[in-house]
Amino acid sequence: MPCRRGAILGFFLLFFCAPLNAQTPPANAIASAHPLATQAGMEILAAGGNAFDAAIAVTAALAVVEPTGSGLGGGGFWLLHRSKDKRDIMIDGRERAPLAATRDMYLDGHGEVVPRLSVDGPLAAGIPGTAAALEHLARAYGRLPLATSLAPAIHLAKAGFPADERYIRMARFRLEALRRSPAAAAIFLQNGNAPQPGHVIRQPGLARTLEAIAERGAAGFYQGPVAKQLVKGVREAGGIWTLEDLAQYRVVERAPVTGRYHGMKIISAAPPSSGGIALVTMLNILANYDLDAMTSVTRKHVIVEAMRRAYRDRAEYLGDPDFVDIPIDRLIHPYYGAGLSQSIRLDRATPSGSLPGFVLQEAGSDTTHFSILDREGNRVAATLSINFPFGAAFVPPGTGVLLNDEMDDFSVKPGTPNVYGLVGAVSNAIAPGKRPLSSMSPTFVEIPGRGVAILGTPGGSRIITMVLLGILDLAAGHGPQSWVTKGRYHHQYLPDIITYEPGALEPDEITALKTLGHDLKARKRPYGNMQAIFWDLKLNHVSAASDPRGTGQATVSP
Ligand code: DON
Repeated sequence: MPCRRGAILGFFLLFFCAPLNAQTPPANAIASAHPLATQAGMEILAAGGNAFDAAIAVTAALAVVEPTGSGLGGGGFWLLHRSKDKRDIMIDGRERAPLAATRDMYLDGHGEVVPRLSVDGPLAAGIPGTAAALEHLARAYGRLPLATSLAPAIHLAKAGFPADERYIRMARFRLEALRRSPAAAAIFLQNGNAPQPGHVIRQPGLARTLEAIAERGAAGFYQGPVAKQLVKGVREAGGIWTLEDLAQYRVVERAPVTGRYHGMKIISAAPPSSGGIALVTMLNILANYDLDAMTSVTRKHVIVEAMRRAYRDRAEYLGDPDFVDIPIDRLIHPYYGAGLSQSIRLDRATPSGSLPGFVLQEAGSDTTHFSILDREGNRVAATLSINFPFGAAFVPPGTGVLLNDEMDDFSVKPGTPNVYGLVGAVSNAIAPGKRPLSSMSPTFVEIPGRGVAILGTPGGSRIITMVLLGILDLAAGHGPQSWVTKGRYHHQYLPDIITYEPGALEPDEITALKTLGHDLKARKRPYGNMQAIFWDLKLNHVSAASDPRGTGQATVSP
């Protein structure tokens, strides 16, 4: 140890070893989309677990009590910060295309997209990653046995949870598809209909599958009786999964994408999510402006133009990095952002059609995010998905596992419009074993001497712009309650339109943006369900917030 002896060494100690004794948070915090999931995580922290054990508990509890959004039948990205060595890691537990998948599997004999084929039923499902991620989190980062961290979720699956207003709305939305899967209908509906408020959803089959994972780790899901039931159920209903698909599934640890904005360090999701790259590109563009000195209209105009340009690149370049070469270093370079900013006119919108062509496919309308900070300074930001509400609305009998429809995140027909009238790029075409491009953007922001933020949200293609607006709000000095509450607006290159939440733009701003040449459309409903934490280093205070649009819970506890 060089820092042990003498006055000079004492001086050295003060200045060079201080980071080793870095500050730790005064409290634990968890923000998730369901109170029972937040409580499950808190229970595990109280039992001596760290943030990673709590992430296992929250992931598994959400799989039970928020089945519309994520689950064992889906996947996601777990962004981790381990305080002891300051390491940032992204666990990529994204679904993979089955080995029998083909580029044109959702097209008919005339090359036309077959409606709903990539959305409803077992053919829409990629090979899930969540169970593998749970085991990996426990083995590589947790402190407690997997069985301990899974116990609260197993209890919730057996005891049941009451259907709330949001669950019932989603069940109505996916009613027809759920009715077509008898095993799904038996669990998630009440006599074949959307449940009555307070109806208790019990999931003994899911409890057994969770118990198999508790006993045998990932092998309890990807091998043995559960794997056989999954494959049998999928194939009998027209799907293409094989035992080999399940046996081959592995999570991948990837280096997060990082960038800087006004002295803040941004740490976010790497491909196969587009989130980190698009976020850093947008911030690199915006770094060329003094947003605070602008009128609110010019500021929003410039932010929208940054969104437009980053989403164009997303559509052209991004896909599974194990299959396509992505020019990441170029896309996240500050000079590239500066170059893009040169094409922005302050007096006029740039029509998307005048930028070099490419288009994005829209994503679904469910998914979930949670954020965790523990007292050691470990962090987790996790965005998890089965894609649409209730995923593919299909449960292989006996498993209790609701399958994803993440295959719809691929460009089902590259180069021509998909089921939404939009087209995607070749880089995101279907291939066996490939991961579909995602927008999920679990993110950390570190501001030296000021604080650390953990945030993310569901919301399909709008996820990235929501996280951007959250970061800009943080840069403006606001806290998590403001980031999760503030009105949202969005541009994704194509369609060439600004969409916004009711009330997010003032009437005179709308008029002024139209005068600049923008098209605008108000969305009928608010969107997103952001879960955020801020550790204020100056005040040594932790705060957390759950999006008022959802029914989640943020808890800070010493
Ligand atoms: O990975 C993605 O980008 C999508 N499957 C996420 C879908 C989503 O967030 C829907 N949310 N409301």
